[in-house]
Amino acid sequence: MVNSGSSANLVAVAALFHKKDRPLKRGDEVIVPAISWATTFHPLQQYGLKLRFLDVQLDTLNIDVSRLEAALTPRTRMVVAVSILGNPAALDVIRAFCERHGLYLFEDNCESMGASLNGRSCGTFGDINTFSTFFSHHISTMEGGLVVTDDDELDYLARVIRNHGWARDVSGAPDPQSPEGFFEAYRFVMPGYNVRPLEISGAVGVEQLKKLDAMIERRRANAATFVKLFSGDERFILQRENGRSSWFSFTMILNPSLGIDRAGVMRAMRAADIGFRMITGGCFPRHEAIKFFDYDTVGPLTNANLAHDQGFFVGNHPRDLTSEITSLREVLDRAAQPAQSAVAR
Ligand SMILES: Cc1ncc(COP(=O)(O)O)c(C=O)c1O
Repeated sequence: MVNSGSSANLVAVAALFHKKDRPLKRGDEVIVPAISWATTFHPLQQYGLKLRFLDVQLDTLNIDVSRLEAALTPRTRMVVAVSILGNPAALDVIRAFCERHGLYLFEDNCESMGASLNGRSCGTFGDINTFSTFFSHHISTMEGGLVVTDDDELDYLARVIRNHGWARDVSGAPDPQSPEGFFEAYRFVMPGYNVRPLEISGAVGVEQLKKLDAMIERRRANAATFVKLFSGDERFILQRENGRSSWFSFTMILNPSLGIDRAGVMRAMRAADIGFRMITGGCFPRHEAIKFFDYDTVGPLTNANLAHDQGFFVGNHPRDLTSEITSLREVLDRAAQPAQSAVAR
């Protein structure tokens, strides 16, 4: 455990740079989806990797795996797979692609704890994987994150890097108040950070984990209500579930052919006290931060841009939201009006 999902991503990338065999190196290329959170991307920049942005599928909002081969170059070393807002990415396809080409798979599963694909938990497909327990996520330790791996070397590296780069957590920790432990307790073996969580965050997380399955069931029941009320309405493009989503939230993209004014929809939701947000971070290359990155895009980012310009999400929560979703439906029925020009066509 670390003090945030962002720190988990930083530790994961750092660990891959310190592997004995085939470490990542500055200038290596990494394939990433155009939509994710900023701190999916920032550690990649901070370690000198070149990003190749791929568009997402409009319905799942996850990386368009049909374009993976087109993104591959002789310098490609890794794919970052992100399951957006609870919805599993095509992790089986991405993993097979990585195996075929000898690439690392890093799964940023910070938005999708409790999701699974073909019976396998999201956050276990990668060489190294991360989770967030920030307070709006599936379990909450207020701030917190996790690094998960079944690779012994990456496990060792992640433990050392999160904790000052010292060996104490992995070397059996003899008593520092003894001749043997005097030096061992402060033996620094590699460059690291201090991104430990508070003890109390760990304790809260252990209790929260016991409730995870029940909370996911509740979120899924809310999702069933949402899908029942909104599917089939051509005004809204909803997120299509791939595998078993843990439904972080409910995304909606206003059908671009209908000319619905998103600002008007936002004003109506605000007036009705319904919270809404941009879909994760929107299309990341459109942020100012991109000027610091070495990157290119693999073809146009049409769907990511559409999600950026015409999309939003409303929150899910592990309690019964039937009345909230019903009132969302009523508000949007009134507010999401196709433009007259679109109606006339
Ligand atoms: C995909 C993704 N990665 C990383 C993070 C960072 O997690 P944290 O907020 O715990 O730092 C988030 C945060 O929401 C996220 O959505």
